[in-house]
Amino acid sequence: MDTICIEGGVLLCGDVTIQGSKNATLPILAATILVEGQTVLHRCPHILDIVHMVKLLESVGCKVIWEGDCLCVDAFEIKEVCFPEKYVDSMRSSIVLLGAMLGRKKEAVLQYPGGCVIGKRPIDMHLWAMEEMGVAFLEKSSILHARCEKLLGKEISIPILSVGVTENLILAAVLAKGETVIRHAAMEPEIVALCDFLIGAGARIKGHGTDRIVIEGVEKLSGSEYVVTPDRIVAGTYLLATAGCGGEVVLEDVPMEQMDSVISIGRSIGAVITEYKADRKLQIFSEGKRRPIPYLETEVYPGFPTDLQSCLLAVMTKAEGISVIAETIFEDRFRIVPELNRMGARIFQKDNRVMIWGANGLVGAKLTAKELRGGAALVIAGLMAEGKTVIQGRNYIERGYENLPRDLRQLGAVIR
Ligand code: EPU
Repeated sequence: MDTICIEGGVLLCGDVTIQGSKNATLPILAATILVEGQTVLHRCPHILDIVHMVKLLESVGCKVIWEGDCLCVDAFEIKEVCFPEKYVDSMRSSIVLLGAMLGRKKEAVLQYPGGCVIGKRPIDMHLWAMEEMGVAFLEKSSILHARCEKLLGKEISIPILSVGVTENLILAAVLAKGETVIRHAAMEPEIVALCDFLIGAGARIKGHGTDRIVIEGVEKLSGSEYVVTPDRIVAGTYLLATAGCGGEVVLEDVPMEQMDSVISIGRSIGAVITEYKADRKLQIFSEGKRRPIPYLETEVYPGFPTDLQSCLLAVMTKAEGISVIAETIFEDRFRIVPELNRMGARIFQKDNRVMIWGANGLVGAKLTAKELRGGAALVIAGLMAEGKTVIQGRNYIERGYENLPRDLRQLGAVIR
């Protein structure tokens, strides 16, 4: 059954270990196409998007072995440049295969990527960025055929901050001729992880983690081993769930240095959060009394992430006062508002803002998850509600969380 059932109203108590980062693993897996050799990646999360990315790698000739949380990718021989529609269409991050395949074979064929419906999510800047590096596109029946004689390093300023476009440019530039300078680059930790991985494989990159990344093209990349960083969004989800439900939870293996904005919001809504930096543990204590947030905007890193906006919104439905949240990255990321209102929340949306009248009790309901992070937020709402909640659309949640019910059961939640 594609459902999650929750009996709400339980405090969360216990320890949980944070899985590897989805959004770091996906572009790194795409990057293995550039490597004439074997890549060993540790702490890969067992989630649907990774399964699909592995299928995409296999479809072009990579040999992939998955043992526990370790993925071994042998990309000695890339036989194909064409990616199958089924998996390209299943997720947004298939678009970063473009830069990687062009880097390796100077040719790539794929359709428009799919992924969570959280906004229009065009790929115009991806295509423009590749064109800037000398790529020509032919489009037929929504299939993109990209080709170039060679990729040429260049100074490129990305018009709107974009994680995916920055990743595609990095992937295209590492084997390009000459120097590429990316201005207005995204600074997300996932960009840093991708660059660290590539440097370990022989790439020459400087400035990652700032808005100006400089890449000197090299002849080839060789096999390497890399440990994926833990997932800051999963850690943030459990932090907010604890703040919402009340209880005492210790999160293990937390990328604390990436989570300042989330920890600070957790504190401002009333949770007591203690950071054990040396042990990479975060302790969250909450009496379940949530203070409202007068105004918060989602921002690019290091601001409060759009990927946690829905979870925060769910928690604020029971705050003692009025909160306002503005979504500035994706125009359609309030799709859970009608679902939360059916549970008794009082949320009003105007354009890219919601106003939340808190302190109402939530009651369990039958809900439908329509996308990944919104789905996780509905789970939090179900945990905070009185009575039974049934959420359909579990497969969306499994795109990003290894096993949300298992982890929450470990914390005492009644969820299956
Ligand atoms: N944009 C364009 N044109 C483009 C590309 C992007 O207009 O060619 C716009 C987007 O529509 C959006 C803005 O630029 O309004 C920023 O989007 P960005 O390209 O940064 O997003 P992304 O790379 O598609 C990644 C994450 C998202 C996360 C965003 C923002 C991955 C696989 N996805 O998406 O994660 O929300 O960055 O931080 O890394 C998730 O994990 O649930 C998720 C959606």
